[in-house]
This record gives sequence, structure tokens and C-alpha cells, in this order.
Amino acid sequence: MAANTILKFDNVSKIFGKNKVVHNLSLEIKEGELVALLGPSGCGKTTSLRMIAGLERCDEGEIIYQGEVIDSAQKRIFVPPSKRGMGMVFQSYAIWPHMNVFENVAYPLQIRGVAKSKIKEEVKQILELVGLGEMAERKSTQLSGGQQQRVALARSLVFHPHILLLDEPFSNLDAKLREQMRIEVKQLQQRLGITIIFVTHDQVEALSLADRIIMLNKGSVEQIATPKNMYDEPTTPFVRDFLGKTMIFGGKIVSVTPGGEIEVMREGVNPIRLRTAKHYFHRPAVGEPCSITTRAEDITIEPVAVMRARGDEAGGVVFQGKIETLLFIGNQYESVVALNDGERIHLYLPKTFDWHQGQEVALRLDREVTVWPA
Ligand SMILES: Nc1ncnc2c1ncn2[C@@H]1O[C@H](COP(=O)(O)OP(=O)(O)O)[C@@H](O)[C@H]1O
Ligand SMILES: [Mg+2]
Repeated sequence: MAANTILKFDNVSKIFGKNKVVHNLSLEIKEGELVALLGPSGCGKTTSLRMIAGLERCDEGEIIYQGEVIDSAQKRIFVPPSKRGMGMVFQSYAIWPHMNVFENVAYPLQIRGVAKSKIKEEVKQILELVGLGEMAERKSTQLSGGQQQRVALARSLVFHPHILLLDEPFSNLDAKLREQMRIEVKQLQQRLGITIIFVTHDQVEALSLADRIIMLNKGSVEQIATPKNMYDEPTTPFVRDFLGKTMIFGGKIVSVTPGGEIEVMREGVNPIRLRTAKHYFHRPAVGEPCSITTRAEDITIEPVAVMRARGDEAGGVVFQGKIETLLFIGNQYESVVALNDGERIHLYLPKTFDWHQGQEVALRLDREVTVWPA
């Protein structure tokens, strides 16, 4: 499926005073795609989205929408927000308290001069779509947070924009409602086939919703990839540590095979040697220090007593240690394990075993480790 590019950033930068908060951002968004702009607070997500909407002008580079330059300082081109026809929902979704649900949603059509009968029809349709079909006459002040957010969503969709910009739209909702809205946005996008750019600092929101994630850090792109790719194959330590939980152990390279694999070693009470093809060394050299990483869910942990009872002492155990802290969190346990070589790691434990503080545990690595320059 070779969808058309609907939006393109070509080396876009934004400067506030002396601060360059968006650095040479280049990206392309395809028609019908749901793209998440993900990153920690202050990394430039909102600023980037506001440039797309035309609420900020870029200082360098250009923004191209549907094949047309809509913002370029150099070419002195700037298409104002009202001419861009984009739908927008921001974190502080301002729905108008003096208007009822119908009036709020009808507003964008009224200012566009749409005929009354047409407005009625369109608003009815969009309210059905966001699950507010029965609420048209309800006063805005009598709505729950989730309902208000749906009104904001309906208002941004009612004029059939080609692109919908969402800036942390659910961050004011409680956890349960956020989950529900996540599913609704996904369904909405599938039904309407609309392009959505979704700003969030929440990794679960980005992973679950996006077709592709653009990960920003200090105003620059760290990685652009599908959620699965970004999670499984982060290309920078920043992305690796932002998404999911990673165990990181120090070590050094002890050999490099002609086939591109490296062997790494961790010295200590129980020295370990691991071989892997997954590494980020340009030219790995023997003796170089490294970080060895694996995802928390790729570690199997069991009580040493259970392992001994099975008579399976040697089978792939990489670390042994003791449970130092244990927290029951419902579906599993959370723990800090002090490894025999002194390092402490944070792990989740399944409910399959009876765990207790001070218990001796054995860890196995289920997947090939990844190795990074230290
Ligand atoms: N109008 C502004 N004037 C000056 N600095 C701003 C302005 N808007 C944002 N910034 C700064 O730009 C950086 C990026 O902000 P923002 O895009 O809001 O980040 P995010 O949405 O990722 O949290 C921050 O350091 C912020 O303080
Ligand atoms: Mg923001």
C-alpha cells in the first residue's frame, strides 16, 4: 500500500528567544496514518504540533501539506490556521460552557456558512459516531470529563478535516477512561480513515495507537519506527530506556567472530559469557567496555530451591541473587533482586511461585542480549 504523503517537515526548526526547541525536524506522514509524536515533557511535541496547525511559525525549513508549502520563513509563505482545515483537540479542550453539546459541535460548520439543515444532519452523525447521540441538548456544564472530551473530538471532526491533531487529549482523564478513549480513537480512525497525529508522553498510548511512532528527544528525532520495531529494536539508549523496562549489565567484549557476532563477558563471582549478533558497535574491538541489555520480560526467574529440586542447576542460569524487596501488585509481584555480584535489578515476578523476601533466585535470559557501547 503506497499511500500518499499528506504532511512533510523538511528540516524544520523552531527557536524561542535563544532556545532552539525543535532541531532540523524532517518527517513524512502518509494519508490515513496514525502517527504518535512521543517523548518526555519539554521535548518539543506541542511546538511541533502547533507548527502543523499554524499556531506557531517555523524559523527554518518548510512544512508541506497536501503537496503545498504552508510554512516557510525563507520563501515567506505562511498559510493561516483557518485556511489549513485541520481538526484539533488539545489537552485543555476548551468546549464552550454557555453552549449545549449541539451548539458546540455545530460551531465549526456555522463559521463556515453551512446551511442549517445540513448542520443538523452532520452534527447528528458525528455525535452518533462519538457515542453522544442522545446528548445533543445537554448543557456542556453537565458533562463528565470523558463526555466533554468526546464533544471536543466531535467538534474537531464535524467539518471532515483530512487531518486530526491531538495533543495529549486524554491526560486529564482517569486511567480507566483513558484506556477506553484509546480504543475509541483507534476505532474512529479505522472507520473514518482519517490521518491522525497524536502527541503523547505516554508510551502505552503511543505503542497501542500508532501505526508509526516518532520519538523526540530535546527537539530532535531519536527514532521513527512502527511500535513493534521501536520496542523490539530501539536504535538508541534513549529510546531503549524510554520504552519498556530494560535490564542493563556492564561487561566487555572478549571476542569478535568473522560472522559479525561478538562474545561479551561479565566478570565477578559468577562470570558469564554471552554471544550475540545484536550489537550497536560500529567496529567492535576486543577489550572494549559495553552495556549488555535485555528486556525485563525476557528474563525467567525462579526460586533456586525449585531449580535444585528439578536437578537443573546448569541449564542456562546467568545470574543468582536474593530478593531484597517484594511488592504484591495484583497480577504479579514487583521486586528488587540483589545479584550475587552486588548489582541490584528491578524485576517483575509471576504469581506461579510463592515469593518471599530473602529468597534465593536464579535468572535465565530467554532471548539474545543486545550489546551497546558503554
Ligand atoms: N511560547 C513559548 N515561548 C518560549 N518557550 C517556549 C514556548 N513554548 C514552548 N517553549 C519551550 O519549548 C520547549 C518545548 O516545549 P513543548 O513543545 O511544549 O514540549 P512538549 O509538548 O514536548 O512538552 C520547552 O522547553 C518549552 O519551555
Ligand atoms: Mg506538550
